[in-house]
Amino acid sequence: MTSSNIQAQRILIIDFGSQYTQLIARRIRGLGVFCEIWPYDHCAQALAACPRGIILSGGPESVTAVDAPGAPDAVFAQGVPILGICYGMQTLATRSGGQVSTATRHEYGYAQVHTTGSSVLLAPAGDDLSLDVWMSHGDRVEQLPPGFRVIARSDNAPIAAIADEKRQWYGIQFHPEVTQTQQGESMLARFVHQICGCDRLWTPGNIVQNTIAQLQAQIGPQGRVVLGLSGGVDSSVVAFLLHRAIGDRLTCIFVDNGLLRLHEGDQVMDTFAQQQGIRVIRVNAAARFFAALAGIADPEQKRRIIGNLFIQIFAEQAEQLTNVTWLAQGTIYPDVIESAGAASGKAHVIKSHHNVGGLPEQMPLQLVEPLRDLFKDEVRRIGVELGLPEAMIWRHPFPGPGLGVRIPGAVTAESADLLRQADAIFIEELHLADLYHEVSQAFAVLLPVKSVGVVGDARCYGPVIALRAVKTIDFMTAESAQLPYAFLEQVSRRMMNEIADISRVVYDISSKPPATIEWE
Ligand code: XMP
Repeated sequence: MTSSNIQAQRILIIDFGSQYTQLIARRIRGLGVFCEIWPYDHCAQALAACPRGIILSGGPESVTAVDAPGAPDAVFAQGVPILGICYGMQTLATRSGGQVSTATRHEYGYAQVHTTGSSVLLAPAGDDLSLDVWMSHGDRVEQLPPGFRVIARSDNAPIAAIADEKRQWYGIQFHPEVTQTQQGESMLARFVHQICGCDRLWTPGNIVQNTIAQLQAQIGPQGRVVLGLSGGVDSSVVAFLLHRAIGDRLTCIFVDNGLLRLHEGDQVMDTFAQQQGIRVIRVNAAARFFAALAGIADPEQKRRIIGNLFIQIFAEQAEQLTNVTWLAQGTIYPDVIESAGAASGKAHVIKSHHNVGGLPEQMPLQLVEPLRDLFKDEVRRIGVELGLPEAMIWRHPFPGPGLGVRIPGAVTAESADLLRQADAIFIEELHLADLYHEVSQAFAVLLPVKSVGVVGDARCYGPVIALRAVKTIDFMTAESAQLPYAFLEQVSRRMMNEIADISRVVYDISSKPPATIEWE
């Protein structure tokens, strides 16, 4: 398999701003077909890459508005199959001479549509089917464009799906990408495989093989690479891929900032250096981090200090390596989409998340980003393919500034130690109760207050631990996990018995929004 041809049979997703656009892409990738998302007004370059099919996403606008966003003419001149979803169907219909108007009743949630006649997309066997689907629309197609026929209707939308089989243009009012549309995945599969003729080339095995070949071509036979290894799934997968591609011409730098979880540094060293023979330089820099953080209480200032010091230490180490010309980063596809959003001013920064961006400006290194095209679930799947330990692949996310943002106010080595012990008890109990994988993220927070308790007959006055456990799909919104009371009591008992100073344990039940997942 050559480096580019698993991406040669590709689908282009033109984004009109739907909250589900990334979900469409993940479903198509899951069907073994490469696809990319481009904004409707910036898709010329993507069209030049000859996609085999085009999907027009949903979106929040109304096609009846003046200046409603539309796909460029080149999309319709491309001569490839098109699937319009929701807003995408409406823009396809108006562009083709149909008519759309605002429905008297908005349709949101579960609905049933009935197929009318056979169609490759919805009813390949030609039967009259009732399909359970998910709708979310205010406008609807009122008049069919010339050349199209109706392939499904619903009570609220007599024109719920349309097809022009000659041009292979399809429109569906409902959302096939959400799980509530029960046959959504089969519909998307028929679109990409049968209608667009794409094979299943985008598989974990092929992605690994392809990426390794690409890395070898990019870095060349002599090139040397440095990578900041955090132990998180992204940088770990990058390390495994690069090690396969260039062996010991890869050097990883693992900075122990004193704000990691219990035994984390040793585990990372064991997995990479001892088990896999990957070259890892461990820098024990806890003292420098605590010195830099002394007396600093502002969360954003703490983040900046931790991020900048990380970059400084990383650069010091990298400078000592001779002949290194490449810097590897674990940038993933949602970061690429998000930075496009940030560049266009659409994204809103709530917390500054630290990464190693900015390094290339300080050091004369070229960037290598092997995960740039991958979603997080794909990174995990290729992690499995590469033989990364399961525990590492499925571990809850951990923020770059580590325990530093879980100790509101000033951070000290002693407070980090205390929190590390409390956190380890919480996580151990979650594993013992088989609850660890039931929640998306769980951790302890050391509150900057003291409370009164009694130990034996004596009064004690010690710090309070808050437990936080959330369920979320995308970490943008989250709910507090409803952990059993008996479980929470067990965690609380252990913390107060085993960690002398702790006087009280509380459970955080706030949702995001308005709260955030971390306390800082
Ligand atoms: P929030 O607190 O913003 O967290 O609701 C959402 C997700 O992001 C993680 N997080 C961070 N990750 N650097 C990171 O690398 C940071 O500064 C940071 N702050 C929050 C958080 O753990 C959660 O998974």
